Formats: sequence, structure tokens, C-alpha cells
Amino acid sequence: MTNSFADNLNRLNELRAEALAGGGADRVEKIHAKGRLTARERIHLLLDEGSFQETGVFVRHRSHEMGMDKNRPVGDGMVTGVGRIDGRQIYVFAQDFTVFGGSMSEANALKICHLMDQALENGCPVIGLNDSGGARIQEGVRSLAGYAEIFWRNTMASGVIPQISAILGPCAGGAVYSPAITDFTLMVDQTSYMFVTGPNVIKMVTNEDVTFEELGGANTHSTKSGVAHFMASSDADCLLMTRRLMSFMPQNNLEEPPRVKPTDKPDRREEKLNSIVPDDNRKPYDMTEIIRLVVDEGDFLEVQPRYAQNIICGFARLDGQSVGIVANQPKFQAGVLDINSSIKGARFVRTCDCFNIPLVVLEDVPGFLPGTEQEYGGIIKHGAKLLFAFCEATVPKLTVITRKAYGGAYDVMNSKHIRADYNIAWPGAELAVMGSEGAVNILHRQDLAASDNPDAERKKLVDEYNETYANPFIAAGLGYLDDVIEPADTRRHLITALNNLRGKKQNLPSKKHGNIPL
Ligand code: HXC
Repeated sequence: MTNSFADNLNRLNELRAEALAGGGADRVEKIHAKGRLTARERIHLLLDEGSFQETGVFVRHRSHEMGMDKNRPVGDGMVTGVGRIDGRQIYVFAQDFTVFGGSMSEANALKICHLMDQALENGCPVIGLNDSGGARIQEGVRSLAGYAEIFWRNTMASGVIPQISAILGPCAGGAVYSPAITDFTLMVDQTSYMFVTGPNVIKMVTNEDVTFEELGGANTHSTKSGVAHFMASSDADCLLMTRRLMSFMPQNNLEEPPRVKPTDKPDRREEKLNSIVPDDNRKPYDMTEIIRLVVDEGDFLEVQPRYAQNIICGFARLDGQSVGIVANQPKFQAGVLDINSSIKGARFVRTCDCFNIPLVVLEDVPGFLPGTEQEYGGIIKHGAKLLFAFCEATVPKLTVITRKAYGGAYDVMNSKHIRADYNIAWPGAELAVMGSEGAVNILHRQDLAASDNPDAERKKLVDEYNETYANPFIAAGLGYLDDVIEPADTRRHLITALNNLRGKKQNLPSKKHGNIPL
């Protein structure tokens, strides 16, 4: 007996309705009650209206153990497909928590892998919307194999196409390693969490009491671990943030980021910049204020804004061109470089470099943080990450020294010597081995000890030191700086330099890969 066309059409409509229903109205209501959206609602918010074309719509799992053969939902809890963000092609997968808790099966790993292969072949970004109870327990090692296939593809795609992970519910066990390999991780406050082992296992092994939220909530990963790059207030907020983040990124490593039609004057002067740095070099100021005054429309998307706040990383535009900003923050621990800020900065520099996003450094750095905690923690190898990342980056590299550039940190923060292209300083900049007080104490310890009036003597020596070393003109005379500029004109200088560097091509020596100190 053969089915008629009408029968098949009915069957098609039934199957499609089943796929769209996911785990059913009750389960949908349950996640809505928790403030979360369904996989399809999320895709709808993420992509341009009507642009989504689904793939693998009718895939089902092939398990039979534990009665699974009697429960084979259409789509298997994974929605995959292609759509557009601002008209640009994007590959998306979304775990549907209403079907087996969004758990990873062999079948839905295959759906993701197929999607990732296509994204790589077409040179387009992949965005994963994660919301899952982890490995599908009923499928055992087949599920683990599926994860590993994804991890391998994440690694192969790294530095080729942008990969973004939005964590919109649970993400536990080894499942966290796919997001960790991708370029950016976004989390939602109070409704998403990530950990390798959960509170129950921790209680058993270490006897610690910790809640899901404290252990792996968005707040924890945005402040303590640095695992999350962005924290959103809701699913909708997270998906809008993802769209905004994409606007700074190119489609792949062979393309430039999209250029936005500039609406801000390229030669806009900002008189406020002339007085933003306090005369007393021990006084803090807010570097984000400088960033906002310089970039197009004051629009700045900060990455990891609440982690290692002594360094600021983020995206902005200069005359419509996407740039990655790395800046010391004098307002936080005087902008010192430590383990966490070095790691944060290094990762960001490498992200920009893989995706052809020029780097703009705003520098006011008193050096590396002293202390046993830092030395025992390996500040040597972690600080070296930032140095390595800047050395290796071949995108246009610009540096503005707003105040201090001391010691090793001067070298590390995109100095001319490690092949930055355009280095300038404001007139009050101090380029020196160290600050005046420290230098005088080392050089004149005996004189000061022998002096009848050590305070007056110290002041005299400090003034002498400042006059001799704490200025930008020695470095400018040596060609280590291209110019010393009036702060109000910073924007114009940076935009002109960026335009002049459009044609930059720098090839690194041929190698399998460098050996960044991990
Ligand atoms: C199969 C699962 C599942 C899983 C949840 N479900 N996790 N099914 N495999 N891993 C199912 C539940 O049976 C339930 O089905 C539905 O999803 C919703 O789950 P609930 O527990 O009712 O939801 P909630 O109370 O919100 O709790 C969510 C949760 C919890 C915290 C994620 O489900 C949970 O702890 N799951 C197990 C997490 C886990 O240990 N996973 C393995 C991690 S190790 P019904 O039919 O009742 O709706 C791992 C290794 C990865 O993932 C390795 C990669 C290398």
C-alpha cells in the first residue's frame, strides 16, 4: 500500500507541529515561570525577522535502552539552522530544555557538528544558545563522544570564524568546555550557571557548602573566575547583547569587520581631555571617560567589565571602523598589571588579532604588582602572556600614553619595540624605569640616611628625577614615540593613523604555532 500525497502532507504537518511543540506546553510553562525562554523564542529574538532556515528538523535519537525507543521526539531537543544578524549570515544552534532537559544526545551532537562544518565551509560565525542538563544519561559514552566531536570542531574553527556561546540555563560537567573554547561567553543573571562539578559533588569531596548561584552563576563568572565575558539581565537582553557584539566582528579571519557609516566627526576635538589627568600623578581618574570621549558617539562595549578591573578591554569604533581597546584603569589598583589583568588583556589582544580588529592601547601603568601572592601565582608566565600576545599581533597597533609608562609594563603595553605602529604620548606622560620616589630611594639611600634634613633632600632629588626622566621628550627624541600631542586632538591622530595603516601586512616567521606561555 502506498501513501497518498495528501496523507504525506498531513504527516508532514503533524511532524512539524510536534517539532515546534518541543517538550509540550507544561514544560514550556515551567521554564517561562523561571524567567527563561524556549529555544525557538530565543532564535526569534537573536536573528533578523523571518531569516531563520532550520536544518535537521526531523532528526530523532536512535537509542533504545531504558525505554528510550518509545520516546523519540522530533528534533531531539536541538534546534539548528542558518539566519541573519544585520543581514549577515550566522549559524545557530539552540538546546531545547523542554526535551530531555536539553541534554546532549548522539543525534543532536551530529546536528551541531553538521552545522559547524557548514559554518566553517561558508566562513560564517556560529552562535550556540546553551541550556542543557549535560550529557544525556541514557546514551552513556555516545553522548560523551558527541561532545568531544564538538570540542574538536570548536578548536579547528578557533581563529577562523567567530564563535559565541550564550549560556541561558544550566551548563555543567565537561559541557562547559565547548563555551570555554569559543571566543565569547555570555551569561544571564540568576538563570544560568556553569561548573565542572556541581554543589552535591563538591559537598561529598571537599565538604564545602555552596549554592548553584554562588558556585557558577553569572555574577560569579563575571567577577571571580573571568569565565563570562558579558552578563545580561534576561534572555532577551543576552540575545540583544550578542547581536551588538557581532556588529564589531568580521564573518571570518579573512574578512574585515563591517564598517559602519560614521556619524561622528573624525577631527572632533575634546577640550575636556586636556584636564582629565590630575596634576598629582598619584591621583586616580577614570580611563573609561577618556575612551568614551575619543571613540565614535561615546559607544563602548566593554568585555569582562567587572573582572580584573585594573585593565579595560572592549570594542568601539573610530570613524566607523571597529577597534579593540586595551587600557590601564588608574581608578582601580592604580592600573597595575597583575595575573588576572594580564590574562584578560592577552586573551582580548589575541581575539582582536585573529579577527583583523586593530588594537588601540591607552596606557597609564605603574608596573607589575609586587608581592608573594603574585610571584607564587606565576605573574612571570602570566605577564608574559600579555607581552607575547602584543608581540605576535599583526593588526594595526596604536598606543597613547596618557600618564605613566613604567618599567617592564612600558615594554609590554604595545611599545614601539614590540612592533606597535603608531605610539604617541600626552605632554604629562612619564616614561621611566620606575616612579620618582622608588628611584630616589634606591639610588640615594645612603645620601638620605646621612642627610641632616632627609625630607628636604628627598624632595630635591625627586624633583630632579622628575625633571630628567618623568617626561615623554627623551623617548620622543629617541624615536620611541612618534609624537607628543595635545590630548584634545587624540581622536584625530588615532583616526588618521588607522587610515594610514589600512594596507598593513606583516607576516610572522613560518611555524606550526608559537608557544605562548600558558
Ligand atoms: C537526560 C535529563 C538530563 C540528562 C535533565 N534531564 N538532565 N535527561 N540526561 N543529563 C531531564 C530530567 O529527567 C527532566 O525530564 C527534564 O530533563 C528536566 O529536568 P529537571 O531536573 O526536572 O529540571 P530542573 O529541576 O530545572 O533541574 C535541571 C538540572 C537537573 C539541574 C540540570 O536536571 C540535573 O541536575 N540534571 C543532571 C545534570 C548532570 O549531572 N548532567 C551530567 C553532567 S556530566 P522530565 O521528563 O521529567 O521533564 C556531563 C558530562 C559532559 O554532562 C561531558 C562532556 C565531555
